[in-house]
Amino acid sequence: ELKENTVIVVLGASGDLAKKKTYPALFGLYRMGFLPTDVKIVGYARTKMDDAEYHKRITSYIKKPDGDAEFDEALNQFKAFSSYISGGYDDSESFQNLNAALEKIESGYKSKDRNRVFYLALPPSVFIPVAKHLKEQCHAPNGINRIIIEKPFGKDLESARELLSSVKEHWSEEETFRIDHYLGKEMVKNLLVLRFANVALNAAWDKNSISNVQITFKEPFGTEGRGGYFDEFGIIRDILQNHLMQVLSILTMERPVSFAAEDIRDEKVKVLRAIPPIEREDTLLGQYVGAHGKPGYLDDDTVPRNSNCPTYAATTLWIHNPRWEGVPFILKAGKALNEAKVEIRIQFKDVTQGIFKDIGRNELVMRIQPAEAVYLKLNTKTPGLHTRAIPTEMDLTYKRRFTDAKIPEAYESLILDALKGDHSNFVRNDELDVAWKIFTPILHWIDGHNGAKPTPVPYPYGSRGPKEVEPFISKYGFKRSQAD
Ligand code: BG6
Repeated sequence: ELKENTVIVVLGASGDLAKKKTYPALFGLYRMGFLPTDVKIVGYARTKMDDAEYHKRITSYIKKPDGDAEFDEALNQFKAFSSYISGGYDDSESFQNLNAALEKIESGYKSKDRNRVFYLALPPSVFIPVAKHLKEQCHAPNGINRIIIEKPFGKDLESARELLSSVKEHWSEEETFRIDHYLGKEMVKNLLVLRFANVALNAAWDKNSISNVQITFKEPFGTEGRGGYFDEFGIIRDILQNHLMQVLSILTMERPVSFAAEDIRDEKVKVLRAIPPIEREDTLLGQYVGAHGKPGYLDDDTVPRNSNCPTYAATTLWIHNPRWEGVPFILKAGKALNEAKVEIRIQFKDVTQGIFKDIGRNELVMRIQPAEAVYLKLNTKTPGLHTRAIPTEMDLTYKRRFTDAKIPEAYESLILDALKGDHSNFVRNDELDVAWKIFTPILHWIDGHNGAKPTPVPYPYGSRGPKEVEPFISKYGFKRSQAD
């Protein structure tokens, strides 16, 4: 349940994350009636501005949908409980000021309980000092304090451990909410239900029925404007190690004892621990080059010349447990591709040959975005006086099935969970640790720790990815059916 007397402090209120995600999500929650009735929102950042200027910014962060007659009124109400204070990220005085401002705001609350939620929409370089100062200067003595942080959590196992343990010195696991926004996506949340509330699916969920699994992330734009950040991280740290691994762990974990956060997270960690580090031979790296008037990755001025940073990666993981032994899990992610799409594609084994010839495999596809859908490829007899099988689909496209449903934004769902204190959809310390163990050796190889750096293969901007991808996925048993 939501606590009254809550102040939400958005640190980094003038940055990109706050602008694109945090404020729109807070406003969305407010409109749906999911913020505590007496909530206050405080923006904090280095930029000096007064409340009027800050309110102008909020207005520019939140888009007005066409024909929304109540929007302006709601936004005015939202601004009325939102205020701003400027300060640095590494000096006690700034945080004392923040604390004094919070106390002043809270003096209007009836009860003595003070609940403070600190959302760090900040670059990783200031995580540690901010976490420390917040604890020392702004931790409310009565009530609940929470801190919300978001990737990048380090660059490899060692740096992640350092970062996590520094935050942990000040904030307990109970107080910490580590966002991976994929866990807030509707279809990712649906995985638990699809898997464990359906006997038919559950029975086929293992190496006996499944040939291979692909989890694919495609974006139709490059790193335009973000080249500096991206080059330090690359697609593996940006997407695979976190977002796709989260999807993979929910897809493959054993059934948790309950929906309680620790039960779910225990199972996720257990399955991740059964995955050995990725091998070079199981990895394909790509980098986009200019095409159709669009610039290549290396044409970006913020990217160092000759950077070998992968903007595309495909890698195959293996899970050594009785359920999954021998099943390849192929993770693929790329920027500057031909379309925007994130999906899980489970390909089942061949039907025993004999009575059928050239019959395609069953596939279960869960499309995470855009246009959420679940569909199952089935072979069906074509109607008529013959026995010919054709591939068809059982199609659960959300737009058609749930016509009036509004699918929440990932950040709306996650901020609400954090306000309620539900950790189920947040990343636990040890989950991160295991995920880094799996990826660190390959990342060190790409970064040249063990000698020459590998060179990614080129692919044109706007294409389906490197041409080497097709043979790569076939190598792991994926069969394209004639209907594809
Ligand atoms: C972020 C990455 O974590 O996820 C971005 O840093 C990427 O590079 C984004 O574009 C994708 O998120 P979504 O919700 O648009 O799939």
